[in-house]
Amino acid sequence: MTHPTADDRKRAAALKALDLIQPGQIVGLGTGSTAAHFVRALGEKVRAGLRITGVPTSAAAETLAVEAGIPLAGVDDVPHIDITIDGADEADRAFRLIKGGGAAHLREKIVAAASRRMIAIMDDSKLVACLGAFPLPVEIVPFAHRTTMRHIAAAAVASGCGGNFIRLRGGDAHPLITDNGNLVADLDCQSIPDPEALAAALSAIPGVVEHGLFIGLCSGLIVGTETGVEIVEPPAHGG
Ligand code: A5P
Repeated sequence: MTHPTADDRKRAAALKALDLIQPGQIVGLGTGSTAAHFVRALGEKVRAGLRITGVPTSAAAETLAVEAGIPLAGVDDVPHIDITIDGADEADRAFRLIKGGGAAHLREKIVAAASRRMIAIMDDSKLVACLGAFPLPVEIVPFAHRTTMRHIAAAAVASGCGGNFIRLRGGDAHPLITDNGNLVADLDCQSIPDPEALAAALSAIPGVVEHGLFIGLCSGLIVGTETGVEIVEPPAHGG
């Protein structure tokens, strides 16, 4: 018996997310390899007659969606987004995410915040007890970026994180430039005991455009596992 690879698990989560899509919906399209499985599979459904409109979260997602034949609109062109399906770099069972491994977290967060529902899809290596092993991406403006990075590292210490090593993605010679013309600093926290505190501290730093902590935006996880998919949902109200 062969074990499913990480990519098999990502694809399984993505295909399960298709069940959530209803005809006529406006659907946020995430970025990354897991979301790419979803976009391609959604494109097959569109070619088979499903009518939906996609809202891409990045230039890469837009290119993929066009190739898949999905009709697209911009965030500003739609009254709301019904549901967004996106990947994640890490998630906990309180639906807090680290995103931005693909440097798309600013647009991903704007799309998620405009959505009635955001569901994260991933393989089971991403589901963690404590966020922070994956370095936290922080999009920053180029002006005075070294100073901004020092403030970010200090915020990690003040928020009780297990580490505060920070580096510019791509390095000084060839820094990565985001879709928005900014830089990305990756903050190696090792562990983030209080994601809400760190998120608030980072948002208060001048020069920080957006950090990759998604808190209060995601309402469900679909996790590809060795044996299938695990769906993590909030507990039902009442009782
Ligand atoms: C893009 O900036 C990220 O937020 C991605 O959603 C995240 O990196 C997940 O990527 P994979 O699906 O490729 O693991």
